[in-house]
Amino acid sequence: MSTPTDPWWKEAVFYQVYIRSFADSDGDGLGDLPGLTSRLPYLRDLGVDAVWITPFYPSPQHDAGYDVSDYVDVDPRFGSLADADTLLATAHDLGLKVVVDLVPNHTSSEHAWFQAALAAPPGSPERARYLFRTGKGRGGATPPNNWQSVFGGPAWTRLTDGEWYLHLFDTTQPDLDWRNPEVPAMFEDVLRFWLDRGVDGFRVDVAHGLFKVKTLRDQRDLDKPPPADEQRAKQQHEAAGSLVPQHLGDEPMWDQPEVHDVYRSWHRILAEYDGDRMGVAEAWTQTPESMARYVRPDELQQAFNFTWLQAPWSASAFAEVITSSLAAVAPVGAVPTWVLSNHDVIRHPTRYGGGQVGVARGRAATLAMLALPGSSYLYQGEELGLEEVDVPPEFRQDPAWFRTGKPGRDGCRVPLPWRGSRAPYGFGPAGTTPWLPQPDDWAPLTVAAQKKDPGSTLEFYRTALRARRRLVGLAEPVELVTDRVTVLEFRRGPLTVVCNCGPRPVRLPAGEVVVASGPLDDRGLLPPDTAVWLT
Ligand code: GLC
Ligand code: MG
Repeated sequence: MSTPTDPWWKEAVFYQVYIRSFADSDGDGLGDLPGLTSRLPYLRDLGVDAVWITPFYPSPQHDAGYDVSDYVDVDPRFGSLADADTLLATAHDLGLKVVVDLVPNHTSSEHAWFQAALAAPPGSPERARYLFRTGKGRGGATPPNNWQSVFGGPAWTRLTDGEWYLHLFDTTQPDLDWRNPEVPAMFEDVLRFWLDRGVDGFRVDVAHGLFKVKTLRDQRDLDKPPPADEQRAKQQHEAAGSLVPQHLGDEPMWDQPEVHDVYRSWHRILAEYDGDRMGVAEAWTQTPESMARYVRPDELQQAFNFTWLQAPWSASAFAEVITSSLAAVAPVGAVPTWVLSNHDVIRHPTRYGGGQVGVARGRAATLAMLALPGSSYLYQGEELGLEEVDVPPEFRQDPAWFRTGKPGRDGCRVPLPWRGSRAPYGFGPAGTTPWLPQPDDWAPLTVAAQKKDPGSTLEFYRTALRARRRLVGLAEPVELVTDRVTVLEFRRGPLTVVCNCGPRPVRLPAGEVVVASGPLDDRGLLPPDTAVWLT
């Protein structure tokens, strides 16, 4: 059993609130903090333990808030600092923890620091907080190195005075120079500001960024086809719809050793506060071992484990993900984390084939995931079985769409349907035009509609989360049973989990079914695309 002395986050189920798309209290088409506060009872009833809220800080919103212009305030479109305080107090009264997003790799180009850098001359202390360099070639007209932005195109933009600045994401997201002591000092203040207000933790955006190789040397062999294992890694990224860095093999811009001192210092700050405050790293590193370095005992508490999200619908792939994920964190003594969807990837029912089959598979994968040791992260709307939306090009807002012409990430960010038969489906007051259009056929998927239907995805999530509270949190290790190729099966002490990834119904081992992701067939067999827990 997990013991009362275990930190709250160890086995917690986190629910990711994509603030723009959760609930809009004032009808401006964007979700906001008061909207979220009013719906916290829904999250308590769903049965999650904690909420992670995506950035709500002042921002020109060129990357949906991941371009922060002031780290210690609230964007008026999302509310006020007083609204943030009310949200925290209400969540805590309901027994929910609150984790906020921290974006330390880059600021917005509208941040006071970058504005000062633009106004100051080359070589000034103002420019030294970012990565300004002179270009190469005749008149310095070629970028300082060959790095590409994650959103497509060169990672450098030139100013009229001739200097270039680095942005691994959009041009409006200049990268900070973490070797400049003013930068870590500023973020320590930001951490304390939100910890003092009562947040329970931070989700650290691009946690593997921050430091770049000091020389800012070229990425090697960009013109050569990448080796086979790298191709495979790239295909996995692409299958999940995630943004692919140009060349995974040689990464002078990611995962530099110096970054770990930052997390050691943040660990010490978190530890000064009561209540087991925590940090979870978004670190897209190359290997499970390099990911585990972010969760050594004196660094962050958790790191997202994106391996399941990159795996196809396959029992053997899932088994391999479970084995390698547990093995990765074991040497450092950290707890694993699990996630199937977030605001950067194609929703998992769509990845698993879409339609009824995709939703059934999504439920089955979720049920299997929820039985594993450690913490699970859910993304808003997955409890409604929402699929990726094909947002018409004229409505798309993802900077990756503008820079690459690929559909981008708007399809998983469409505002939630709460009730009613047409848009805005209760997302905002009647007459609200949501910032991304909602599909016409979402009436059966609203929270209100699904609450009335015991077979709905929402009721399945509630049942599964209730059962998890009862049955999981066991110290028992995972024992994989690998005698059937198309069936994922594992035991944890008295609990047996079976997920049928094959095309035919299969027999269940002995035991009583306590939760099922869908109905069994009339012979008591487990149909394809279905999972159960047995005791
Ligand atoms: C992270 C965020 C993503 C954002 C990027 C740049 O990957 O999850 O949404 O675009 O960082 O901040
Ligand atoms: Mg609003």
